[in-house]
Amino acid sequence: MTTPQIKTPLPGPNAKAIIDRDKLVVSPSYTRGYPLVIASGTGSSVEDVDGNIFLDCAAGIAVNSTGHSHPAVVKAITDQAQKFLHMSGTDFYYEPQVRLAEELASIVPIQGGVRSFFGNSGTEAIEACLKLTRYATGRQNVIAFLGAFHGRTMGSLSLTASKAIQRRGFGPMLPGVYHAPYPDRYRAPLGSTAESCAAVCVDFIEHQLFTHLVSPDEVAAIFVEPIQGEGGYIVAPDEFLQRLRELTMKHGILLVADEVQSGMGRSGKMFAIEHTGVEPDVMAIAKGIASGLPLGVAVARAGLMAWPPGAHASTFGGNPVSCAAALATIALLKDQLVANAADVGAHLMAGLKALADAHPLIGDVRGRGLMVGVELVRDRQTKERATTERDAVVTAAFMRGLLVLGAGKNAIRFSPPLVLTRGEAETAVRIFGEALGEIEATRR
Ligand SMILES: Cc1ncc(COP(=O)(O)O)c(C=O)c1O
Repeated sequence: MTTPQIKTPLPGPNAKAIIDRDKLVVSPSYTRGYPLVIASGTGSSVEDVDGNIFLDCAAGIAVNSTGHSHPAVVKAITDQAQKFLHMSGTDFYYEPQVRLAEELASIVPIQGGVRSFFGNSGTEAIEACLKLTRYATGRQNVIAFLGAFHGRTMGSLSLTASKAIQRRGFGPMLPGVYHAPYPDRYRAPLGSTAESCAAVCVDFIEHQLFTHLVSPDEVAAIFVEPIQGEGGYIVAPDEFLQRLRELTMKHGILLVADEVQSGMGRSGKMFAIEHTGVEPDVMAIAKGIASGLPLGVAVARAGLMAWPPGAHASTFGGNPVSCAAALATIALLKDQLVANAADVGAHLMAGLKALADAHPLIGDVRGRGLMVGVELVRDRQTKERATTERDAVVTAAFMRGLLVLGAGKNAIRFSPPLVLTRGEAETAVRIFGEALGEIEATRR
């Protein structure tokens, strides 16, 4: 099978018919960037309902970590489904949930024993982290970062500071949530530079927030994405996480790493925070953990997760089929796919960086492993954000059979399945270059 292969105008007739029905009955709050209607997928290829085949560098928003319908994951799911589908791990016991908690304890970068709380999504993992850190510290306030995305339920939404539309009309938010600038090296905040932004952003917490707004001894936790995902695939300098760790230790504040998007091998290590050498106290994990089945986990130092029976639970959380999928996923990640993400990710990044010579729309290429962002600008000097151009490039890529997603105001994210090959990465770069060229031509 050659990927991609576009055989009909897009959307094709079958896709169009489904989209027309969707418009009548499905919530209009979803943000569909282009009209893809999937019929099936395998590895990094997706076939739509009209027989068009796409190269998938979106992976269902960084979820299909082992590729579409990996045989080992499908087998684990069917084997478990034939035994039992649900029993509620909050009221009863089953081994897949225990085994997954044991497995997580062996792969997270937290020493000395951890416990896991199971939910169904990233936002539930964050809610659990929020409740746990308040409970464990007896403190009410939390700090997160501008540009962060932590989810859309009311607690996690209060931490989210990505796009105003995500909050508009839903207030009031949770009280006691403070936001600090995030160290974006390309757009260093508060007059800082790429080199100084890590220190300046941590100093903001210490000298602005702690001086004027909230006493550190009343802060339960700082929530941070080691790489901002929805915010634009922005990689924080290692020094930033290291300084945050020092600051949190100094004040007895818990450090929560939101690895919902950056975790499970995507960054070329099992968790992105491992690149920095920092040990968090609590981690939120979801998306890629079960290759597409719903699962979210809050993992914490064992001594911290000491809440009593009844304090927190979820009927569906840790569903046995999702746990089986997660166990198969982790085996594949450990065996090959984390290493593949590092290798093919470096190849993809080099290819995208090389495109910058011919394509002035490219302002910045950054990332780790197979979590790569390309920020588009109208002018490299002023760094004016190329927002409409970004949307146009995403659409032009789709029309050529490449699936990518926007992130932030003007970035494009490459978050392919971690089975992507070097050859597929080269195809993605070639098509992306063509899409950029088409949109650049319309601007001349
Ligand atoms: C870093 C991060 N945290 C939390 C979430 C929320 O996850 P979910 O959409 O599964 O609720 C997301 C989703 O994109 C995310 O990227």
